Amino acid sequence: MQDKRRVGILISGRGSNMAALVEASRSDDCPYEVALVASDRPQAAGLTWAADAGIATFAQSPKGMAKAEYEAKIDAALRDAGVEVIALAGYMRLLSDDFVARWRGRIINIHPSLLPKYKGLDTHQRALAAGDAVAGCSVHIVTEELDGGDVLGQAKVAILPDDTAESLAGRVLIEEHRLYPKILAEFVKR
Ligand code: GAR
Repeated sequence: MQDKRRVGILISGRGSNMAALVEASRSDDCPYEVALVASDRPQAAGLTWAADAGIATFAQSPKGMAKAEYEAKIDAALRDAGVEVIALAGYMRLLSDDFVARWRGRIINIHPSLLPKYKGLDTHQRALAAGDAVAGCSVHIVTEELDGGDVLGQAKVAILPDDTAESLAGRVLIEEHRLYPKILAEFVKR
């Protein structure tokens, strides 16, 4: 087995995309391994899942400190773990320009819309309100512009007549779990 690239995953919540990335990494022919799961929320359910799965975890709340100080701690944890590529997976905090610059071209994110549509929050509600026939998810490179970097891959989901934001989110999430491991594997081989 060849050496695997070391990926750090940042999460803020339940971490189902993180879990999909970890599960995929267990296959011998997967080109990455998950070296660290880190979170801005010490109580994030995904941290417990990752620890139970035998993955190193790190939690740092940004409360009571400057953003630069908080990010320096995350950065140090990632570097200490030998991380080469960062995957954001439901990490709901904006990274500073400085952080993005330090990891330029080595951070990717999954976003629940067909970018460039619906950057930011409430993507499913906005797709429904617009009367779209199709929704989906995108994996993209993280730049200083919110949800603005090059798109690496997308998956589409048909919007059904009686869809709610919740029902649509559930079907898009299934596609997220398929798309993200595939795109991350391609990305680390670049
Ligand atoms: C996912 O749907 C992800 O695409 C979205 O948050 C959810 C996290 O779920 N990310 C964003 O909205 C980023 N702007 P998860 O914690 O179960 O992976």
